[in-house]
Amino acid sequence: MIALLKIFIIKETFLHSMKIGIVGPGSLGTFLAGKIGKVNQVVLYGRKDLSLKQVVISGETQLKTDIKYTTDPTSLSDLEYVIICTKSFQTEQVMKDTHEYLSDKTMIVSLQNGLKNEKIISKFVGKDRVIGGITENGITFERYGKVIHAGKGETIIGPYGDDFTNEVKEFSQILNDSSIANKVSDNIYGHIWKKVIINAGINPITALSGLKNGSIIDDKNLFSLMEYICEESVKVAENEVVLPGDDPFKEAVKVAKNTSENKSSMLQDVENKRKTEIDCISGAIVSVGTKHGVNTPYNRTMVYLIKSLENSYLNNSD
Ligand SMILES: NC(=O)c1ccc[n+]([C@@H]2O[C@H](COP(=O)([O-])OP(=O)(O)OC[C@H]3O[C@@H](n4cnc5c(N)ncnc54)[C@H](OP(=O)(O)O)[C@@H]3O)[C@@H](O)[C@H]2O)c1
Repeated sequence: MIALLKIFIIKETFLHSMKIGIVGPGSLGTFLAGKIGKVNQVVLYGRKDLSLKQVVISGETQLKTDIKYTTDPTSLSDLEYVIICTKSFQTEQVMKDTHEYLSDKTMIVSLQNGLKNEKIISKFVGKDRVIGGITENGITFERYGKVIHAGKGETIIGPYGDDFTNEVKEFSQILNDSSIANKVSDNIYGHIWKKVIINAGINPITALSGLKNGSIIDDKNLFSLMEYICEESVKVAENEVVLPGDDPFKEAVKVAKNTSENKSSMLQDVENKRKTEIDCISGAIVSVGTKHGVNTPYNRTMVYLIKSLENSYLNNSD
């Protein structure tokens, strides 16, 4: 009986073990490689030669996971899922570099921020092979192969194409098996929009002021600015999607309170003199607003100010 049970457990483990590619060895990629690699075979793909054999996630507990790291795109050829974990302005380039090596059965997943990742990915592989998503986990990069899980949060995924595919449910199960709390939505574009609005409300303000997220709650001027940005963004979004759940401004207030001691990713980018995701967040809201004849002066101002800040330190290397 015990022997039979063991065979069953081994068979179940084997059945659930998938071959998964993770593209981008930064914060999100390292986190997902560490979590998902515990129960699946993970290939972590990057553009730099690194001698990585293991990744470490620290936080409440420490997790060490053996992984395969490669810069060879042919290693992505025989995988069930590939998760894109680059910054949103790098999605086009990474898809150009890798798409011809992907099997036509591989599903591509995005948990990145920004409005256009799924659209860019589907240009290369078709809509029906794209799973869109967002994650509220907060991960800080320490060095290649080591990240800090700074804040736990929900992950939401859904089909970018028209069908509620079996692969979306299967991918949700993969996340569950990897202890990544998640839910499946048939309105993933609504969730992506909502996260973009919250990011548009918090990130540029903190990047320009140099202050932590909580400062927006403490300073009445910054608080009003966030409200105006969110209101304007909602007017744009309503032309494209049904926004799920609570009003994005209320949610942005909650996020700023819950992460009051954190520096937003955009502030960290500015401090480290890196290109920010402003184009894919506030810039994307401005361009969709233009398409629908909705004025977006607050978001437009944020784009101009962040771009001019970036121009003061960038040498267009990315
Ligand atoms: N970090 C978080 O807490 C978090 C949470 C939710 C969502 N997100 C979103 O997730 C996305 C990734 O964020 P992140 O914080 O992980 O960024 P990140 O730390 O900058 O990582 C991006 C990684 O992509 C790699 N990359 C870029 N172009 C590439 C290419 N052509 N080929 C292979 N690898 C390439 C970069 O390589 P190099 O190392 O060589 O530069 C880097 O390692 C963003 O959209 C972000 O907004 C992040």
